[in-house]
Amino acid sequence: MVSIQYQSLGSSAREISAALEAAIRSGSLAPGAALPSVRELAAQLGVAPGTVAAAYKLLRERGLAESRGRSGTFVRPRPALATRSARLPVRAGVIDLASGSPDPRLLPVLQPAALSTLRGPARTPPGLVVPELLDVAGRRLGADGVPAESVTLASGGLDAIGRLLQAHLRTGDVVGVEDPGWPNVLDLVPALGMRVRPVAVDSAGPEPESLHSVLRAGARAVIVTSRAHNPSGAYVTSERAAELRRVLAEFPQTLVIEDDHAAELAGVKLTTLAGSTPAWAFVRSMSKPYGPDLRLATIAADAATVARVEGRMHVGSGWVSTLLQRLAVQLWTSPTAARSVARAAQSYDRRRAQLITQLAQRGIPSTGSTGLNVWIPVPDEATSVAFLLQKGWAVAPGTRFRQASPPGIRVTVGALDEDGIPRFADSLAEALAAPLGGPYTA
Ligand SMILES: Cc1ncc(COP(=O)(O)O)c(C=O)c1O
Repeated sequence: MVSIQYQSLGSSAREISAALEAAIRSGSLAPGAALPSVRELAAQLGVAPGTVAAAYKLLRERGLAESRGRSGTFVRPRPALATRSARLPVRAGVIDLASGSPDPRLLPVLQPAALSTLRGPARTPPGLVVPELLDVAGRRLGADGVPAESVTLASGGLDAIGRLLQAHLRTGDVVGVEDPGWPNVLDLVPALGMRVRPVAVDSAGPEPESLHSVLRAGARAVIVTSRAHNPSGAYVTSERAAELRRVLAEFPQTLVIEDDHAAELAGVKLTTLAGSTPAWAFVRSMSKPYGPDLRLATIAADAATVARVEGRMHVGSGWVSTLLQRLAVQLWTSPTAARSVARAAQSYDRRRAQLITQLAQRGIPSTGSTGLNVWIPVPDEATSVAFLLQKGWAVAPGTRFRQASPPGIRVTVGALDEDGIPRFADSLAEALAAPLGGPYTA
C-alpha cells in the first residue's frame, strides 16, 4: 500500500477533504483505516483544528468517513466511492458461505420463448408502472394484507429504501436500523448524509423498548425487515407487530419502511406494519426468489410517499425499464416459476433446520427461522473466520452487521448441501474449541 503524505494535503477544508477522498479512491487510505486526530493533522498541515474538523465533517456527510466517538475518525468499511480495494476473492477449493445470495441452481429459469414477448409500447408507462404489473403486484400484496392503492417501483430493495429515505428525511436526520442488520443499509444511510441508530432485534423482530428509545431520541425513520431478517433469520410475529404498532402510535411523524426482501421465499406468514403511521412504505424485492440481477422492487406506500418517489424519478432516471416490468409480470404469473420458488424455499428451510440441529448437537446455539442465513454467536469473530477459512469455509464476520450487538458469524445456506452441513458443524466446533486468539495472533 502507498503510504499517505499528510503534509501536502492542502490548507482549506475542501482541499483537505478532496485529498483524503483521492487517497481513499487510490487505496492509500484503506477501508477501516484510522485518520489522524484533528489536532495531529492540523499541526502537521499548519492549519487551525477547525479546518481539519470541517474537512472530516465533509467526508462524513458524503459517507466516506465515520466518527467513532473517542476512538477518532475512520474511513468507512465500505465508503460511498469506487475504490481500488475490492472484496477478497474466495480462493479455489473454499466453499463460499459468506455471500448472502440465493443458490443460483434454485432460481427460476427464464424461458427464451417468453423473453421475446417482453417488449411493450415504446413510451413511458403512465405513472411509471405498466398496468399489468400494477394489477398483479396489487393482487399479490393484497393477499398478504398490504394495502396496495398506491404502488410504484425501484431498482431493487436498497434503491427503494434510499429513495424513500430521501423523500422524507434530510441531511443529519437519524434512522433506526436493526442491530444486527443488513450491512448495505448501514452503508447507505451515511452515504445519504443521515445517521444510523441501533434498534435491537430478537427472534420476533425489532424489540419494542429499543424502538421506543430510538424514536424518543429523535429518529425520523425506522427500517424493519418483515421476514428472513439478515443476518438472524428472525421474522416479525403478529404479537410483535401489535406491540410495534403501539410504539409507533406515539411517534406518528415516523417514516416506517418495511423490507420484505425474501418475499415468496420467506415461508412464514407476513404481518405488516403498513399504515401504522401516516408515512409508511412496504418494499418487496425480486432478488432473493427470482435472482439478484433482476433489479426490481415493488413499493406499496401511502399516496403522498409514492407521489414523492415517482416525482423524483420523473426528473431523474425516468422509470424502471418496462422490459423488466413485463419480465416480473411473467415470472409472477408463471406456474413453473412458482413451483421453482416453492422448491427453493423448501430447500433453504431444510438446510437451515439441519444446520441448526447439527450445531445444537455440538452444543453451539444458532438462529435462523426464515430465509437464507443462520446466525451463530461466537466469542471472537476473527478467530472463527480464520479457522473456518483454513478448513475450507468462507463465512461472513458479524462485524459488518453489528452496531452495539454481540459478535457472531453469518452462514448462508445456499452453498451447503446435505453432506456439507455436518462437516461444517464439525469445523465450527473445532474452531470454537481452539484457544481464543490462539494460533492466529502474532
Ligand atoms: C435485508 C435485505 N433487504 C433487501 C435485500 C435485497 O436487496 P436488493 O433488492 O437491492 O437486491 C437484501 C439482499 O441481500 C437483504 O439482505
